[in-house]
Amino acid sequence: MTTRTRILTGITTTGTPHLGNYAGAIRPAILASQDANADSFYFLADYHALIKCDDPQRIQRSRMEIAATWLAGGLDVNRVTFYRQSDIPEIPELTWLLTCVAAKGLLNRAHAYKASVDKNVEAGEDPDAGISMGLYSYPVLMAADILMFNAHKVPVGRDQIQHVEMARDIGQRFNHLFGNGKEFFTMPEALIEESVATLPGLDGRKMSKSYDNTIPLFTSAKDMKDAISRIVTDSRAPGEAKDPDNSHLFTLYQAFATKAQEEEFRGELLQGLGWGEAKNRLFQLLDSQLGEARERYHQLMSRPSDMEDLLLVGAKKARAVAAPFLAELREAVGLRSFVNQAAAPVSAKKKTAKTARFVSFREDDGSFRFRLLAADGEQLLLSRNFADGKAAGAVTKQLQSGQALDVRTEGLRFGVWLDGAAVADSAEFADPASLDAAIEALRVALTPLED
Ligand code: TRP
Repeated sequence: MTTRTRILTGITTTGTPHLGNYAGAIRPAILASQDANADSFYFLADYHALIKCDDPQRIQRSRMEIAATWLAGGLDVNRVTFYRQSDIPEIPELTWLLTCVAAKGLLNRAHAYKASVDKNVEAGEDPDAGISMGLYSYPVLMAADILMFNAHKVPVGRDQIQHVEMARDIGQRFNHLFGNGKEFFTMPEALIEESVATLPGLDGRKMSKSYDNTIPLFTSAKDMKDAISRIVTDSRAPGEAKDPDNSHLFTLYQAFATKAQEEEFRGELLQGLGWGEAKNRLFQLLDSQLGEARERYHQLMSRPSDMEDLLLVGAKKARAVAAPFLAELREAVGLRSFVNQAAAPVSAKKKTAKTARFVSFREDDGSFRFRLLAADGEQLLLSRNFADGKAAGAVTKQLQSGQALDVRTEGLRFGVWLDGAAVADSAEFADPASLDAAIEALRVALTPLED
């Protein structure tokens, strides 16, 4: 049996989807979900929306519009897990567990936060003026979204790559601290679709709400027609040959046309089709492609309780995954029932917890390292970098072989040497007594257990 690839992505619910969102994100995501190997989790990131928007009406309207857009666009809710983030209480709960292991320094480096700080500084304001903890912790909430469901692939725009990397970072840290050799979280990868259309807007710049150059998607045929009539073209008169490759009207057409339709339209433009007629053709094409979906959209919007039901079913499916996993994670960090405390498994756990353990990991540059953690989780050693996992593994094996340890102190730190080379180092200690105690702890940790 092949395991399916879990694809997860969230849509922040602050606006009304336009044609650019549809071609750039919604349509490709719906297509990807139809792959037999895909196990798709798509959700409305409405907790994220609260960070950017304090208008309850707008939040509510956008959640409904986005849900209706995805459903009208053909998303099959029997195939995918489609839910609202805010219907999954396990997500904020996981967010807290992750917040407690996320390095503040990591979040200081988040682009979105840094951009806000830079703007404040430029304006001569306090660096953190107007910045909420929500904005600051945005990447931790997003990490919880992703790690909660052990997503393999996360389709996102380029601006979100850093957030996916942070999710890896935070997840890895949790794995090290609490995994006891087990990898709780799968390491997610950002998926950037190079082939997907970035649509130009009315003025030729990228279609975006912030440029006010969008073409509405499902509001009405008339709105779509009006917007299309405002597409900026050059001033060539009807009868004059047009240059399709320098016309964003043509680019828009291409994004929805078959190859044959595209070639026909190209030919007509070269033969001098007037811009007014060209706009008509674009409208006809979009209307034929999206007209039915528009109908479905308005039906859905007029029956919100149907959508509510669908989304609650989605939430149930998602929670069936999230709840047992979160229970495991709570257990791992020590949030355990007092009652189970007395039960048998605890003593077995204690026994394994008594021993020190090696935890290996991979650096961004591809090299391999390991830590030696004492029974209480304290880090005794951090290894140097090894080119491959095999070399790192050989060293951990030798260290556990019971052979005499070559420990060399240097100031208030020490290194461990093997065959004339330093292989791992301690942290820096506050005083000589702590240094000695740590070396002793290391010797104890590496003495093979006798039984
Ligand atoms: N931050 C994403 C955006 O603005 C939305 C989002 C929230 C998301 N949680 C996510 C995307 C998890 C992918 C995975 O586009």
